[in-house]
Amino acid sequence: MSGYILETRDLALAYGGFRAVDGVSLRVKAGTIHSVIGPNGAGKTSLFHCLTGGRRPTEGDIVFDGQEITRRPAHARVGIGMARSFQVTSLFQNLSVRENLRLASQGRDGDRALAFWRSVAAGRAHIERAERIMERLNLTAKADTAAGDLSHGQQRVLEVGMALCGEPKLLLLDEPTSGMGIDDIPVMTHLIAELGKDHTVMLIEHNMGIVMSISDTITVMSRGQILVEGKPEAVRADERVRAAYLGEAG
Ligand SMILES: Nc1ncnc2c1ncn2[C@@H]1O[C@H](COP(=O)(O)OP(=O)(O)OP(=O)(O)O)[C@@H](O)[C@H]1O
Ligand SMILES: [Mg+2]
Repeated sequence: MSGYILETRDLALAYGGFRAVDGVSLRVKAGTIHSVIGPNGAGKTSLFHCLTGGRRPTEGDIVFDGQEITRRPAHARVGIGMARSFQVTSLFQNLSVRENLRLASQGRDGDRALAFWRSVAAGRAHIERAERIMERLNLTAKADTAAGDLSHGQQRVLEVGMALCGEPKLLLLDEPTSGMGIDDIPVMTHLIAELGKDHTVMLIEHNMGIVMSISDTITVMSRGQILVEGKPEAVRADERVRAAYLGEAG
């Protein structure tokens, strides 16, 4: 094994004639928190869509856990251990925190989860996993609260928990703090740092402060390409990064 859980080679995604991702070769080392940052429009979310299967790259390829997955659909990627956080809108708003986590533990997509829900006998391990994850999320006190009644920040934490329920080899998070209140951001930041101790996390994030404090490796994108890659201290000190962010304003 290479020690890399995810690798892209010369990856490109064009929208019409515009290359939002333009030749990205990236390697994510297993067991690390690897962040992708960059100014607005740098291509971070487009890259994320290529990785999760939401968009098919126009060029290049993606290797996950030793398998070429470039053209595999999203659900097939989930099945081999790639998880992304669910959207808030995909939480079961009327179900409790505990029930949401149990459903996510029992199946990796909604339909399967509901089918499995009936075979309760096989569910013991799933139930225990859901309880463990609920503790890690610090949501045990909210176990019986409907997801829809949680604060926005808590809903986003629950989304991350839903992704964890499948015991993924790689957890992909696109701006997990977006739309969060200032009070909730440290909670999410701490959760991701904690998860990084025993998971591989790829974090796409706009907030430099968060990224600098928890990442092992940072890839800086600009105009669809990798501008700089390295440890937080090196990235923070790099003039090219500063210039790219300043350029954003102009
Ligand atoms: N569906 C689309 N069709 C055409 N152009 C798109 C589409 N989605 C994104 N783009 C363009 O591709 C570029 C990269 O967008 P992307 O959303 O990947 O950037 P980003 O780094 O995630 O930005 P942000 O920090 O604002 O989230 C932008 O110029 C954007 O306008
Ligand atoms: Mg984005």
